[in-house]
Amino acid sequence: VELEALNSLHVEAVARFYVEVASADELANALVWADSHGHEVLILGGGSNLVFAGNFSGLVVRVAILGRHWEQIEEGSATLVLGAGENWHEAVVYAARAGYRGIENLALIPGTAGAAPVQNIGAYGVELCDTLQSVSALDRTTGKQVTLATAECRFAYRDSLFKRSPGRYVITEIRLRLSRTRPLVLGYRDLEEYLGPVDADRMEPMAVAEAVMAIRRRKLPDPEILPNAGSFFKNPVVDTAQFEVLKARYPDIAAYPQAEGVKLAAAWLIDQSGWKGYRNARVGVHNRQALVLINHSGGTGRDILALAETIRGSVQERFGVTLEMEPGIVGALA
Ligand code: EPU
Repeated sequence: VELEALNSLHVEAVARFYVEVASADELANALVWADSHGHEVLILGGGSNLVFAGNFSGLVVRVAILGRHWEQIEEGSATLVLGAGENWHEAVVYAARAGYRGIENLALIPGTAGAAPVQNIGAYGVELCDTLQSVSALDRTTGKQVTLATAECRFAYRDSLFKRSPGRYVITEIRLRLSRTRPLVLGYRDLEEYLGPVDADRMEPMAVAEAVMAIRRRKLPDPEILPNAGSFFKNPVVDTAQFEVLKARYPDIAAYPQAEGVKLAAAWLIDQSGWKGYRNARVGVHNRQALVLINHSGGTGRDILALAETIRGSVQERFGVTLEMEPGIVGALA
């Protein structure tokens, strides 16, 4: 099966076997089949956070488990249950329109609900783990369905148990605890600038979602027009001593203090290294957000990875900071 349409970078790749599953039972059957034939398995959601470096010789399982409903509706709060195959952005709009707060800042993030916990999606001051209540998944080591509470998922910035133990869990459903009254998070610089002075108590979550959508549309390329995988690197965290040295040399360096160390804006480092808007015949760097790599014209996964390596080397040399790739790499490199 041709995978080009199933990854947001639209690189060409072929999977030897492919199946779409619409329920946890179908998923379990597909996994049993793959195991009994000794085939590797790749779980695919929206394909918006991976790079196919080559073809995949195993079974690609596209999780298309749909459905959303409300549970435990109490005064002012409720749990939104989403099948892993549900489109994330549509779920955000659905919750915000219903007046429930908690995920409105995560509007327009591509991909599926089931993929959201893997990298703990985050934007504009909010992370998925802030409202996630639990994750249901198939544990491949036991073949059993498990439910993991947020605390068990070991969430961190763009990281989770699911990312750290690849292949072990296949997420089938997620539960979000949303509220009509929790405070809106409006402090992220772009959002604050866009909204201007507002009465936060009176704002509707949908108005925040719309602001986020407008900001993202201005800066981030639509994968259908300029194929991409979102931020290609994580924002690196450096220790305070290294930060002081950098700050002395580059006073306007974009940085955010953390509990441990200082998080730098990878986009700023790449931009300052001269890469913003760069392009060769096939791939390039977005001209409005230096963190986003673009497949302009028939680029392969290897073209994208080669550009990423060059950028990494360039930032390392100039700033002494190591960038870590954000999307996963799939398929044989050789
Ligand atoms: N900047 C530059 N050059 C650029 C772009 C940005 O110098 O080309 C500077 C900006 O001036 C700003 C700083 O870098 O001071 C941060 O930029 P921005 O606010 O756009 O956010 P980011 O750190 O680059 C992160 C997430 C995005 C998320 C935004 C908004 C990561 C790896 N990326 O980007 O997430 O949408 O914040 O919250 O944490 C994604 O993960 O795919 C993604 C798009």
